[in-house]
Amino acid sequence: MIYLAPIQGFTDFIYRKAYAKVFLNVDTFFIPYISVKNNQILKKYEREILLQNNPQKKVIPQILVKNKEEMLFLSKTLQDLGYNEINLNLGCPYPMATNRGKGAGLLPHPDKIKTLLNSFFEKSSINLSIKFRAGLNSSEEIESILPVFNEFPLTELILHPRIARQLYKGKIYESAFQLAQNTLKHPLVYNGDIFSLADYNNCQQKFPETKDWMLGRGILMNPFLPDEINNIQISKDEKWEKLKEFHQFIFEGYTENMDNEGNVLNKMQQFWSLFSFNFPNQKKIFKGIKKSKNITNFNQEANKAFLSFY
Ligand SMILES: Cc1cc2nc3c(=O)[nH]c(=O)nc-3n(C[C@H](O)[C@H](O)[C@H](O)COP(=O)(O)O)c2cc1C
Repeated sequence: MIYLAPIQGFTDFIYRKAYAKVFLNVDTFFIPYISVKNNQILKKYEREILLQNNPQKKVIPQILVKNKEEMLFLSKTLQDLGYNEINLNLGCPYPMATNRGKGAGLLPHPDKIKTLLNSFFEKSSINLSIKFRAGLNSSEEIESILPVFNEFPLTELILHPRIARQLYKGKIYESAFQLAQNTLKHPLVYNGDIFSLADYNNCQQKFPETKDWMLGRGILMNPFLPDEINNIQISKDEKWEKLKEFHQFIFEGYTENMDNEGNVLNKMQQFWSLFSFNFPNQKKIFKGIKKSKNITNFNQEANKAFLSFY
């Protein structure tokens, strides 16, 4: 199975919907985390979780919480909306979250994770999976967390084997993934740095028991990566057509859903920061897109990129 990773700001509902219309080889879509303030879901997340914005076969919303009250509130809200599974974020590495005891901030406290999960499983009936890292400050933290996970009927665990301090770069703790593989009773999904078919093959060789893979930046840079992993051949003409169609859906999606042209331009520039890797001369293309002052300029630059594809 191939999962699309939740990437705040990138894999929003517009991206996920457009992706699923054009590309066929992602099995599960994750909604980037939603969180609570003053007992309410933050407004900016509301559209993300509406069922009508998530028509794909399997969509799992993710939650970022600091205590059991927030977790119960969000799980109930999501269950009432119609979801049958949610994912708990124990990986967010940013101090804004970790200093408040959220995301990877919970990893050094297996006792707190246990309290959270105890209360959740006592009071909720929605399925739960967890996405986590090897630790907040040290990859040794994982050793005390895995036994806690084993006490609960989680559907699966997804591990990005880095510690929070690294953010999204640097050494992958292969030994932490291996330990999780050997210790956990649950299915384990691998996540991290699969940017090409060669990376995928390499990971598969290292972790031959792994069946499910979560890909983030690799798909944002190359939306055909899941096809490549599934050994599906696509001609260059077909690639051009699909990229063009995908780009059109994304552009229309932001145009319909953003308040003003400036916001559409910002979102498209962000999208191109990784989408530009589909074109030769990526740096030059992205520079042109980034310098665009308005939508007319932007469209000219995007058209230039598509002309440069061959
Ligand atoms: C800008 C950015 C935003 C992210 N947002 C989330 C998020 O909301 N929830 C989450 O669990 N992980 C988030 N991640 C982490 C990704 O899901 C994934 O674990 C990470 O990018 C490593 O996978 P990759 O190498 O395939 O991209 C984010 C990563 C980035 C770079």
